[in-house]
Amino acid sequence: MKDYIKVDEWRIIEEGFKPEYNTISESIFSLGNGRMGQRANFEEAYSGETLSGNYVAGVYYPDKTRVGWWKNGYPEYFAKVINAANWIGIDIKIGNEQLDLARCKVSAFRRELNMKEGFLRRNFRATTAGGIEVEVEATRFCSIVDDETGAIRYTITPVNYSGAITISPFIDGDVVNKDSNYDEKFWDEVTKESWADGGYVQLRTKKTGFEVATGQRFTVSQNNLPVDIAAKKVEKDKYVASAIILEVVAGQPITITKYAANISSQNYPADALKEVLETTLKTISEKGFEKMLAEQAEAWEKKWQHNDIIIEGDASAQQGIRFNIFQLNQTYTGEDDRLNIGPKGFTGEKYGGSTYWDTEAYCVPFYLATADQKVTRNLLLYRYKQLDKAIDNAKLLGFRNGAALYPMVTMDGTECHNEWEITFEEIHRNGAIAHAIYDYVRYTGDEKYLADYGLEVLIAIARFWSQRVNWSDDRQRYVMLGVTGPNEYENNVNNNWYTNTIACWCMQYAIDVAEKVEAMEPAKYEALMNRIGFDKENESAKFRDIIEKMYFPYDEKLGVFLQQDGYLDKEQILVNDLPATERPINQKWSWDRILRSCYIKQADVLQGIYFFEDKYDIETIRRNYDFYEPRTVHESSLSPCVHAVIAAKLGDEARAYEFYLRTSRLDLDDYNNDTEDGCHITSMAGTWMAVVQGFGGMRVKGGKLSFNPFLPAKWKSFSFHVGFRGTLLNIRMGKEGVQIKNLSGNELTVTIYGKDQIIKANNELLVEA
Ligand code: BGC
Repeated sequence: MKDYIKVDEWRIIEEGFKPEYNTISESIFSLGNGRMGQRANFEEAYSGETLSGNYVAGVYYPDKTRVGWWKNGYPEYFAKVINAANWIGIDIKIGNEQLDLARCKVSAFRRELNMKEGFLRRNFRATTAGGIEVEVEATRFCSIVDDETGAIRYTITPVNYSGAITISPFIDGDVVNKDSNYDEKFWDEVTKESWADGGYVQLRTKKTGFEVATGQRFTVSQNNLPVDIAAKKVEKDKYVASAIILEVVAGQPITITKYAANISSQNYPADALKEVLETTLKTISEKGFEKMLAEQAEAWEKKWQHNDIIIEGDASAQQGIRFNIFQLNQTYTGEDDRLNIGPKGFTGEKYGGSTYWDTEAYCVPFYLATADQKVTRNLLLYRYKQLDKAIDNAKLLGFRNGAALYPMVTMDGTECHNEWEITFEEIHRNGAIAHAIYDYVRYTGDEKYLADYGLEVLIAIARFWSQRVNWSDDRQRYVMLGVTGPNEYENNVNNNWYTNTIACWCMQYAIDVAEKVEAMEPAKYEALMNRIGFDKENESAKFRDIIEKMYFPYDEKLGVFLQQDGYLDKEQILVNDLPATERPINQKWSWDRILRSCYIKQADVLQGIYFFEDKYDIETIRRNYDFYEPRTVHESSLSPCVHAVIAAKLGDEARAYEFYLRTSRLDLDDYNNDTEDGCHITSMAGTWMAVVQGFGGMRVKGGKLSFNPFLPAKWKSFSFHVGFRGTLLNIRMGKEGVQIKNLSGNELTVTIYGKDQIIKANNELLVEA
């Protein structure tokens, strides 16, 4: 754990230059706007430890899979959201010395991520090897107003030097991915051009053929007066720069304002990219940096009005939760149904920037409550549009009749993951995709979605489950063999309780939705049935038979669901009895030892109880929680949030808070020693869940919102906003009770501590705890 980020409610602050933490800070201070994003690399050259990262959402490269023993059914490639052209670069030469903090004496270094207004600022003083001292302030942002653009204002003041300074703003497409399997470069140059006040590089990805034109325009001022730019053009492979030489006087600042844009062939014909880029750059440079920044602040203010969580009495917790919300908003905006939420967002290469079940299982609740419903709808449509590929994927593995297996990891619907125990066996992901449809409809009431898209996905998923089980003569039950549950510290197990549970739930939900759609939209229903050849009578009967006769491992003596067959054969040493030196076990133990142990990486049975809590009485939930929690090592950041929500439901407020703390500052404090790879974006939604569903006890039942809040002992109050079916609410839990404000013009009935309360339009209500 590190403790170098200064506590501040709205800002993330690093003071003092710590080169050893640079790659961690590059992740933490990342910027993004849903369409593009970048790590917090320096504008000027840096020869120290760094991971350069600029990403354009949805632009990927299929890096040929590398495995020891190829197995049939393996995907050919692992898709990577690739490092794209660097548009932040501004090379600085003072006399003959290049400004490079790794080679300077650095003082007064400060990095600040302003979450309220959405920009990154860096200040420092540096003394070069030759003794020249300069002062720099650099401010930049990725615009959430025009998501193809960004801007930088970079001011350098020589403190003790008068003479020549060369400033070279550049676009560099000659970049690499650290995780490239064959040390290949993923981009080819299409064209490039330099102009008097800018230039651009157009690149094409190898194999996938995406084209992106990345360009810059800049203005320069000296001692606050505009300078006529007389630049020397510098061009190299995939690189353009303009070298501007200025004669400077000590104490007089030089400012370069750089406007940049990424224009992608995902959105325009490739041969139109240059024109669109030029127009875009012209528009933003005419608008100007100040105006862009002011609009950015305004747009962020609007976002915060809808999704801020305010914690009184604990600045560190406040900073943690805001950081999570900020990063989630930087990663996904829901504007484009081709995009999704990679586990690292735009903050690093790990996980290939691809889509995992994380989106449906953890992120959907956050976006449902804090954004327009179309945002979640777009996440669902993303999967709908990939249904054909999920059917092909299942076919490849031997399934038939329109059965679909969604990929564990994907960019475009094709499976990319290539560890057999995950690719072929971690099939529970199919269930989360169905559950997200349920979640969406339950929250929004948009049943039309089921007729238009949902049912088709649900039937394909149900078909998969019905073929994945087999009848066991021995047990006289259906069983599901050779799976990996959410707990990846067990592979190839039989009858994973969670997977069997969600499989049956999916089949039942498909039957229920089919009936609903048939009654609601008979013509659409008929057309769909004909198109997908669903034999309602026989296929539903098969689903029902499986649901009725499915085997669920259970231990009578303990009264708990068993994670899988044979779980109790394992040596049952609890996590608390494991010496601290042995943890995390994924870094200390061999893989076979982990697999043979009883330790659970992340919520598994408890994930099922979290999803379907209404099916179980409180004592059943308690017994399972009491049994599984002491065996869970939480070595996935997706785990503590589920335990937090269940602990809160069981009234274990102290533990709920403890679990929340484990994710709330996970990246800010580099808890797991891995923030340098990027931030844990999808688990940030889990932190939100821990507050809103855990401490706030928020649920949706019977078309109504309900709350059951408690106040963590360390806090004076906490409050959050949720949008629900056209109404915006603010819920504040303080010592005096729960205050609910209805910020909209329609009244809403809300259940608080089990009792229905009407909250009139633009009115508020206080209920004692
Ligand atoms: C977790 C998975 C998750 C993946 C990406 C893994 O460590 O076990 O559940 O999908 O990370 O976040």
